Amino acid sequence: MSSSAAENKIEVLREKIRHHEYRYYVLDDPEISDADFDKLMNELKRLEAEHPKLVTTDSPTQRVGGKPREGFVKAKHSSPMLSLDNAYSDEELRDWERRVHELSGRTDIEYMCELKLDGMSLALGYSDGRLERGITRGDGSTGEDVTSNVRTVRSVPLTVSKDKLKKAGIPADFEVRGEMLMPLAAFRRMNEERERQGLSVFANPRNATAGTVRQLEPSITAQRRMDFFAYMLLKDGRTYFDRQSKAMDALELAGFKVNPNRRLAKNLEEVWKFIQSWEAKRESLPYEIDGIVIKVDLTAWQRELGFTGKAPRWAIAYKYAARGGVTQIEDILVQVGRTGKLTPVAALKPIPIGGTTVSRATLHNMDEIERLGVKIGDWVEVERGGDVIPKVVKVVEDAGKNNEHPRGHKRFEMPEHCPVCGGNVVRTPGEVDHRCVNANCPAKLQGTILHFASRHVMNIDGLGEVLVNQLTERGVVKNVADLYKLTKDDLLQLERMGEKSAENVLAEIEASKKLPLDRVIYGLGIRFVGERTAQFLAEHFGSLDAIMKASAEELEEVNEVGPRIAESIVEFFGDEHNRKLVSDLRKAGLTFTGQKKEKGTKLAGKTFVLTGTLVRRTRDEAKKLIEDAGGRVSGSVSKKTDYVVAGSDAGSKLDKARELGVSVIGEEELEGLVG
Ligand code: IVH
Repeated sequence: MSSSAAENKIEVLREKIRHHEYRYYVLDDPEISDADFDKLMNELKRLEAEHPKLVTTDSPTQRVGGKPREGFVKAKHSSPMLSLDNAYSDEELRDWERRVHELSGRTDIEYMCELKLDGMSLALGYSDGRLERGITRGDGSTGEDVTSNVRTVRSVPLTVSKDKLKKAGIPADFEVRGEMLMPLAAFRRMNEERERQGLSVFANPRNATAGTVRQLEPSITAQRRMDFFAYMLLKDGRTYFDRQSKAMDALELAGFKVNPNRRLAKNLEEVWKFIQSWEAKRESLPYEIDGIVIKVDLTAWQRELGFTGKAPRWAIAYKYAARGGVTQIEDILVQVGRTGKLTPVAALKPIPIGGTTVSRATLHNMDEIERLGVKIGDWVEVERGGDVIPKVVKVVEDAGKNNEHPRGHKRFEMPEHCPVCGGNVVRTPGEVDHRCVNANCPAKLQGTILHFASRHVMNIDGLGEVLVNQLTERGVVKNVADLYKLTKDDLLQLERMGEKSAENVLAEIEASKKLPLDRVIYGLGIRFVGERTAQFLAEHFGSLDAIMKASAEELEEVNEVGPRIAESIVEFFGDEHNRKLVSDLRKAGLTFTGQKKEKGTKLAGKTFVLTGTLVRRTRDEAKKLIEDAGGRVSGSVSKKTDYVVAGSDAGSKLDKARELGVSVIGEEELEGLVG
């Protein structure tokens, strides 16, 4: 294909893909199937690979282009990003309106009512219709440049066509401010995944959003399915339209996701109706809100009203009361999770909160129990966010209430033995969690098998919780390798299992044997080894045997594998039960080898040490560059070091290199060596 024909074809494809991204991620109303969408995307990727010169930063293929970084660069806002004053009652709202009336000298004011989305505000800069920058709020005047993470959010347009801008009446250079958030479904999924990997879970979607926006690795942000709602349009740091309601409509026309649950109110009565109607309905939203934002609609009057300190006088946030209540802790139970982690859970005298009855609340860990000073029998305040597990916020120090309990107020102690299997419970120094150390603990077993069967691992459809519980309780399945020994008869013994379902499950199990090596590695459930690490391990070593034989030092040569992960892998394969498990999986016929990513040989046998601040690439990128060329990167300088690559501000390692007479090179020379 000629280059100009390819160029045309690529542009047509991009337009199509942008349209379908918009239908799917902004309107939530797709016109084509996921598979058809993937086809378009793959076609575009193929063409771009053939014509790399035609790749542009606003191509839909470039959402996850960024490489991991070591930190974020500070960036100044075009005008301060303000926060809002809060009102907690009808009365406080009226006080606010009174001030608005007094200061503006009028009473015929219209208000824009919007949901107060519970995420993190961001400023997106567009120039010539293209997304140039995404900046966090930071201290209001300076934030952090998180552009490569923002680009991964599918509801953020990477480019807005001239046509759309014209229709919306928006200039080519503009700024959009709005809220980045994590939908509840994504939040739940992420926490489950973290739980499986033995990582700490996020307390609520807002914290998860902040953690994700500030992720140093854009591909992780991309996996987390964030969403962005626009609520402000600026040009040169100033409000562009003469009304907030017009700005919202224009943003919508331009293809931004604007929250549809908004209303222009003629007076405070209408505002109040809006507030009340959403108090109940907020439970049904797929994301969390913590109130309603009320804004004076006319920009001219906003200007007249101005600001106090950090917040505008022309807007206010009405905050809903946290959904909580006071009840008594009847007992503290211990749950054992998939990684063997023991979680203390308060059994509560049942209490209705926000439409559901709450009888359990998590106490997280021993540190939290000590921080709260909570004992069995105490009266406590309990809070519940959207879909999150309720939690105990504090002990109610009310003598009248807090004095009687049939068993007195008993301090809770973590058991020394696992309540599920009786195995030893340990708390590793420096860690907050207590864990059951028995590798064969049934609680762990169920979790391990569910992880193994899940969609992103061995994708054994139909092997859900009910089935796994039965299989493990009956002792039919004692480890993941036993899944491959299951017979139709075994399955037919179980409750609610017919011929057809049994056959389906067996077919799924059989099919899983064909999945690639990285899935098998991920499926083993090695602590800290997630999907990505498993892929890197597979690419680096090319076989499970090679990984098993590797030393911690050799493992650390793998991209993104640090001492903690390396240690965990060595420990895993050092265990006799785990080695037996691997050998059973081999016998079952799972995939044990893969495509080793071929390394260059230019730097074969050479050892490098990186020091100082590199400017042309991040340290991880430099490491990868060296390793891909067959070299090795070490952390400290010795006589065996061949080169020290020194950036600016290089310190003691540079001195050491000079002392030992090791060659010191710069980034450009490194590039020269690699060729
Ligand atoms: S307007 C000066 N609109 O609430 C205008 N903010 O407490 C300030 N927020 O930092 C922002 N939903 O992160 C506005 N519809 C909405 C909002 C909203 C959520 C957040 C935003 C802001 C915080 C202030």
